[in-house]
Parts: sequence; structure tokens; C-alpha cells
Amino acid sequence: MKDLDRFAITEAVLEQMAGTPDPRLRRIIESAVRHLHDFAREVELTPEEWLAGIAFLTAVGQACTAHRQEFILLSDVLGLSRLVNVMHDARSRAEGATETSLLGPFYREDPPEVPLGGSLARAATDGNRKEILLFGRVTDAGGEPVPGAVMDLWQTNAEGLYDLQGEDPSAVDMRGRLRCDAEGRYHVRTVKPRGYSVPMDGPVGRLVRLQGRHGHRPAHIHVLVSAPGYQELVTALYFADDPHVESDTVFGVSGSLVVSERTGLPDAPRPDLPAVRYDFRLSPLAAGAEGGRVGADPSRIAEAARSG
Ligand code: BEZ
Ligand code: FE
Repeated sequence: MKDLDRFAITEAVLEQMAGTPDPRLRRIIESAVRHLHDFAREVELTPEEWLAGIAFLTAVGQACTAHRQEFILLSDVLGLSRLVNVMHDARSRAEGATETSLLGPFYREDPPEVPLGGSLARAATDGNRKEILLFGRVTDAGGEPVPGAVMDLWQTNAEGLYDLQGEDPSAVDMRGRLRCDAEGRYHVRTVKPRGYSVPMDGPVGRLVRLQGRHGHRPAHIHVLVSAPGYQELVTALYFADDPHVESDTVFGVSGSLVVSERTGLPDAPRPDLPAVRYDFRLSPLAAGAEGGRVGADPSRIAEAARSG
């Protein structure tokens, strides 16, 4: 009988798991066990802290519903979602293609169609809402237009709320689907979004507060672009003048995705509006390319959890 001291326990666990038939599962769990044990040794984890951790994870699970994914939020605020995104990009993004960003929890499948030049805002704009134009092209990584590209856009309103967070979560606003023209051009009117706080009323919000963090995401517009023969692009454009653009709680911002609205841009289809010009560059769909979004509709995750 081996003495399972603070180091031998790790080897004993790895030995028992060594026969895992699926090699990828074996590699992932082996590595997780090594790092988990190293972590416990490094911080000298006490029984009270271990139990507090178990209670925290239990609360995270209990906060998950078909409309809310507290585990993804935990992954987001710990930077794990960003890390997985960056590694996925490094493996699959063509040189010159647009960088990706987090899908987030507010994506809705099949948003309403918006004609080119139409508006994402259903309600009329008033003094508090700054109407802007977003325009540009969808091209391949080398800058050649991609005909037939479809763009889904979604964002908060001028108050910093998604439609899903309103009194009637079935109401649709500030989102839409555009179909680019034959040269890959698009233009759409919208209201300048406002930055917002990630949900702070659950266990992840409590953790963020305990850490003295602000919990804010800078103002952004989410964009999902798809076209036959190209990889789906999930990204977002972030506004440079938002006070949290350098300190996003979920680490979604990349320099190449930061924009500002300006008047007098050449070839803006609506010269009367402040405009953001952005060209989205797609990666080709290589044979055997990984699919995958860093994010999913929470109801799909709940379904997958139920079916084991
Ligand atoms: C979002 O961009 O919608 C989002 C991303 C991560 C956590 C919360 C919100
Ligand atoms: Fe968002």
C-alpha cells in the first residue's frame, strides 16, 4: 500500500485514469488533474476554502437557466473564453482576416431582416439616441468582395440594455439581418450603443465585486458574418470613446476592432450621419477546418446538459 502523500496522490489519480480509451479525453482530464493538484498545493488550500469553492460552483450551476449561462459568464470574467477564442483564431483565421470576439449571451437566431440602409432600431430616435451609420464591405482575407454575405447584428440600446433584458424578452429590437449587395457592400443605420454591466446579481457578479472590479463591457455592436465557402465570423466593434474600452470585464476587445464614428467619410451612403466604416474580412473554409463559436444560446446548453 502506497502512502498517498501530497505528491503521490497526483500520481495515483493519473495512474487510475491512464486507461481512458478516448485519447483526447485522457489528455484533457490528466492535465486538469495535474493543474488542479498543483493549484491546491500552491495556495495550501484549506478545507473551508475547498468547501467555499464547492458552494460557489454549486451556486453557479443553480443560476443557469435556458436564458442565462452563469458558467460561461464565469469563463468570461476569468479570461478563459478570450483565451479559447484567441487560440481558435490562431489555428483557423487566415492572415488578413478580421479578428473574432465573444458571441456573448444575447445572440438570437434568425433576427428580423433589415434592408440595406434600414435601421436596427425599431423605435424612432430621439434626443438621447445618437443615430449613426455603419457601412463597409465584406471581403475575403485579400480584400476581394464576397458576394452573398449575410450579416447578423445585435447590440444594446442607448440605455445599455439588450431587447432580451426588457420587460418583454420576446420583443425584438436593436438587432437584424442584412444581406450584402453583389460587391459585398452593406450599410445600416443604428443608434449608438451604450456600454453595460454584465449580470451582477448572481455568484459571478459577487465574485467580480469581491475583486473590486467594475463589471462593465464597453459599448459595442456584435456582428456575425456568414457566406458560402467562408468560415463564419463572430466578432464585435467597440467604440473608442467608451471609458471601459481598455478594461472590458470579459476581455473581448482587440485593437483592430476599435472604431469611432466620424462625419464626412468619403463614400458614406448617408453623408448626413456620423458613420463608422468597417470592412469585414473572411477566412476561407479550409477542408477539415474547425467550426465552433465561443458561446452558444443558453437554451441549447441546457438541452445538451439534460441529454448528458
Ligand atoms: C456580451 O457581449 O453581450 C457579453 C459577453 C460576455 C458576458 C456578458 C455579455
Ligand atoms: Fe454584448
